Amino acid sequence: MEDKSKQVAQWIVNAKKMVIFTGAGLSTESGIPDFRSPGGVWDKYNPEDFYFQNFIASEASREKYWQMATEMWEPIKKAQPNSAHLAISELEKLGKLDCVITQNIDGLHFKAGNSEARVLQLHGTAIFVSCLSCKKRYDRDEIQERIKKGQKAPRCDDCGGLLKPATISFGQSMPEEETQEAYHRSSTCDLFIVIGSSLVVQPAASMPLVAKRNGAKLVIINRDATPYDDTADLVIHGQAGPTMAGILEHIKQRLGIGN
Ligand code: APR
Repeated sequence: MEDKSKQVAQWIVNAKKMVIFTGAGLSTESGIPDFRSPGGVWDKYNPEDFYFQNFIASEASREKYWQMATEMWEPIKKAQPNSAHLAISELEKLGKLDCVITQNIDGLHFKAGNSEARVLQLHGTAIFVSCLSCKKRYDRDEIQERIKKGQKAPRCDDCGGLLKPATISFGQSMPEEETQEAYHRSSTCDLFIVIGSSLVVQPAASMPLVAKRNGAKLVIINRDATPYDDTADLVIHGQAGPTMAGILEHIKQRLGIGN
């Protein structure tokens, strides 16, 4: 593992354009469950209850959705960045990060210090709520307060439209701009590092392949195996936090930067 971390550190130091791609496995050490590990979100809830068309279709499914979203909001709200998030933020400060493409909705890249311009949120964000009709934005905690007071499926103050956390549900269209930009960044980088994703949800999971096909080195850092392990140039099966902290140490040594 040590030699592999040193190799990744060397590739990061030499890279001209490095993209980091993150999934829910990046945030489990911050107390936010991922989706497909044992005990993850899809062990607890039925993914179909989160389908966008069901949310649109009936008040009952909207109430159920908000009940689940409320349960999932608590760990997200309390979560602090772990050493993997902090390492990624440090890489931006060292001028080594082209961008982060994240599937995560927890906002932890920003809490860790990455700038808005460097983070592409492919699956939106749970940090605020928006109206599906007029796009008006609401603070998430304000809407959670309304739910506490009995509004089971809140509506927009301005137009009466349906309010939903600004995440992308199954069946909901991907954010056009972020998705196009993510494809562009993936196809023009020379180093693409996946951290904490099972790489099973499209189109996000095609980004590593786009990078590889365009000549980038592909590194996967994940606790479990992924369908792209054989395609990758290097795979580290381990915990994201300690692994990224170790890689950052090696980078700082190579750049002659003390602690
Ligand atoms: N360190 C490293 N890897 C980890 C850790 C950890 N601490 N914890 C979990 N993992 C790995 C697991 O082995 C798993 O392969 O992270 C991966 C998480 O996979 P998923 O739960 O499928 O999460 P993700 O890949 O982000 O899912 C993609 O699916 O449900 C949708 O919209 C949701 O964005 C999500 C998308």
